[in-house]
Amino acid sequence: MIVNNQNYRTIWMENSSVFMINQHLLPHRFEIHQSKNYIETANAIKTMIVRGAPAIGATGAFGIAQAALEFKGNNPEDFKNHIENASKTLKSTRPTANDLFYAIDFVRNKMLKNFNVDDAKKDAVKFANEYADWNAELCRQIGEHGNKLIKNNQNILTHCNAGALACVDFGTALSPIRIAHYNKKNIFVYVDETRPRNQGASLTAWELAQEKISHAIIADNAAGHFMKNKKIDFAIVGADRIAMNGDVANKIGTYTKAVLAKENEIPFYVAAPLSTFDINAKTGDDIPIEERHGDEVLYISGIDEDKKIKKIRIAPEESPAKNPAFDVTPAKYITGIITEKGIIKPANEEIEKFVKNR
Ligand code: MRU
Repeated sequence: MIVNNQNYRTIWMENSSVFMINQHLLPHRFEIHQSKNYIETANAIKTMIVRGAPAIGATGAFGIAQAALEFKGNNPEDFKNHIENASKTLKSTRPTANDLFYAIDFVRNKMLKNFNVDDAKKDAVKFANEYADWNAELCRQIGEHGNKLIKNNQNILTHCNAGALACVDFGTALSPIRIAHYNKKNIFVYVDETRPRNQGASLTAWELAQEKISHAIIADNAAGHFMKNKKIDFAIVGADRIAMNGDVANKIGTYTKAVLAKENEIPFYVAAPLSTFDINAKTGDDIPIEERHGDEVLYISGIDEDKKIKKIRIAPEESPAKNPAFDVTPAKYITGIITEKGIIKPANEEIEKFVKNR
């Protein structure tokens, strides 16, 4: 993605450090966060300095590479145990996004095949970089497929941030929008603010502004109004995990928008790489939903007149909050799933066919 006329990825590795765009500070400040070891990388995922399913997947892959480099000695059994512990730590950071587990297993399984410690360390870095490059390319392909669905002069709704910041580059839901814009299609994007953490208002809006794509941020509660008044032609969101029957877990509030889209006869698409499908989840009921701290609902963060980032309470001191981070949208509300290999109907047989060849 282009930031201040320079090309950036969301995450990358140099020597034994992982670098990432600090998503706590956007849209107010653009800073790069450095994690010097795999424990710091795990913390960056847990505290959401980096977030979004493919982005935390690639970060987990780099975390495993760091763990390999940190190992002292050359006993293969000890090395294997060290990698198992690091995998557990990295996987325990967030429960819902399938990519985190998929990416960590990708690097771990490849590096531990007929290995000696020295080669495995080099392989870990190589495979983690391969994973990140691969994810960037898949997202570009999702953009090419999705672009074919977008017509000139369309108004598009998106929820949360499924942009380059949520991936290594391009994005999932934002990738077709980006490519439509590069193809000179006249489009307008309605950006759900996405309470409680406001990933839409702070991250998606920032990405669209960087690319000069016309957009407006809307309150989460406003989408129904715009749909009913024929202001939205098309809705597109990302996914954290997809069950084999096509049920989709994505940012809290996605389900509401999908039901509203069906009621208003608006196509509702999900964009996600095939790594998002969980072969062990038969339906959405098998997807674990992350419960986050209530403070995310009770407080809001922003910038004051002195340009200081501040967190302020918006609720009574006595009031607690409930804060599920994701919800599950049943397959019947989804028009299609845009993947790197084309558009899939959210139904068992079709999904199995695609996932077998991923
Ligand atoms: O809690 P977050 O910010 O990690 O949630 C992100 C989302 O729900 C995205 O929509 C999803 O990961 C798809 S990203 C390409």
